[in-house]
Amino acid sequence: MRNNIERVYFTEEMIQTRVKELGTQLSEDYRGKEPLLLGVLKGSFIFLADLSRHMDMLCDIEFITASSYGAGTETSGEVKITKALDSVVEGRHVIIVEDILDTGLTLEFLKKYLSSLNPASLKICTFLDKPSRRKVPLRADYVGFECVDAFYVGYGLDYAGHYRNLPFIGSLKPDIYA
Ligand code: IMP
Repeated sequence: MRNNIERVYFTEEMIQTRVKELGTQLSEDYRGKEPLLLGVLKGSFIFLADLSRHMDMLCDIEFITASSYGAGTETSGEVKITKALDSVVEGRHVIIVEDILDTGLTLEFLKKYLSSLNPASLKICTFLDKPSRRKVPLRADYVGFECVDAFYVGYGLDYAGHYRNLPFIGSLKPDIYA
């Protein structure tokens, strides 16, 4: 699997240091609030697992599945919720946890949907942010790293379902897409 990586952008150490900082910041910002961490599957599962263990507070954890990508590297533009919510959102302090913010279409859709369920507050925490790719004017409240326009794999991010389990974030060799 690692032979297919062309370049490592974020090492395991960089990731763990930054996730700890984000967890500490969220613990301060949400003190006494018992937030609902809402992970967007599948990509956020590793980030959410690490982030939540750096949050020294009571919190609930929930997942939603929204997908706008097929098996390739370009968004289809159409967002669908394929796993509905099991928890009540009304009156909760919701933090959407996402692996990467790219065009913004997925999170814009989710933000509108979740706002309609009347949360007490709604914020976005994304590990990576590719601002140059944005198609809608959406900003995350908490960002791990801003990144350049590339296609990343690892730390939850996949290409055609693979590479999510890499502990670092990198790009693939061009022949992998051929
Ligand atoms: P958006 O709706 O274009 O912002 O796309 C968000 C989703 O696209 C993310 O949750 C990822 O699943 C996927 N995605 C965007 N960029 C990448 C990437 O570089 N690698 C892997 N998945 C990506």
